[in-house]
Amino acid sequence: MLTKTMFIKKSNKLSLFAAVMTAGLFAFGAGSALASAAAGGYERANNDVSNVASLQRGARNYMNYCAGCHSAKYVRFNRLAVDLGLTDAQVEQNLIFNGGKLTDTMTITMDEGDAARWFGKAPPDLSLIARSRGTDYLYSFLKSFYLDPSRPTGVNNTVLASAAMPHVLWELQGLQRAVYEGVTAPDGSVEKHFTGFELATPGQLSPEAYDEFVRDTVNFLDYIGEPVQLQRRNLGFRVLGFLLLLFLLAYALKQEYWKDVK
Ligand code: HEC
Repeated sequence: MLTKTMFIKKSNKLSLFAAVMTAGLFAFGAGSALASAAAGGYERANNDVSNVASLQRGARNYMNYCAGCHSAKYVRFNRLAVDLGLTDAQVEQNLIFNGGKLTDTMTITMDEGDAARWFGKAPPDLSLIARSRGTDYLYSFLKSFYLDPSRPTGVNNTVLASAAMPHVLWELQGLQRAVYEGVTAPDGSVEKHFTGFELATPGQLSPEAYDEFVRDTVNFLDYIGEPVQLQRRNLGFRVLGFLLLLFLLAYALKQEYWKDVK
């Protein structure tokens, strides 16, 4: 029999359950907020490796602005030709600047020791950089150079503090200043909080066009990080489709076998 006390106990249990669930949900929400803060609050790259036109522009950007310092030694030009829908002649004329061959990989002639002496750090190979850093990081990195006269290159970077890389895209983006606001801490000290960038000298591209330029370049880096990713995804969907079909057939067969048993 359900007495009054039992009922109260039961409803207590229920409200405890509800409270735990709600707390759990809050913790989950806080957890994901923490996760995004831990990710550094990077801007989303929103690139699309299935967009071949964007990859072609990215390859052009990369060869013109990055390949002088960075190798991508796991990438071969003739593979680019196939994946980017370019003819061999187009690749030779537009992407290979150092007199190399189609069968070459994207190496550089700069000596690593020299590079380390010139920049303080050798420029890393970029074949797998999108895999190790993530596309949002790369997108934000290329947008976050700001004027800093204390640095040998005249610029610093909010994503990679004291970056040894010069702002090679400054003619396109222009030069920006980092803006800080003073926040008074409870103990009376004033802390500098970064609030955003303001353009000090405009570049050749509008901010929107610069974003597109960077997105295409990051898209290309994403692609070279795993050239087969499109095929892999396509194949994945086909395999799932096949399994679904197989399931339906197997289920129909089971129905057929068991229909007289019961
Ligand atoms: C003048 C030479 C030079 C050019 C050109 C150049 N870089 Fe760099 N880059 C460097 C150096 C030097 C570093 C090492 C920076 C460091 O670790 O402080 C670097 C580092 C990087 C990194 C790694 C950042 C990290 O988190 O470790 C990325 C990504 C990168 N460059 C992308 C690019 C892209 C994309 C381009 C073309 C738009 C480019 N770079 C053009 C010199 C160059």
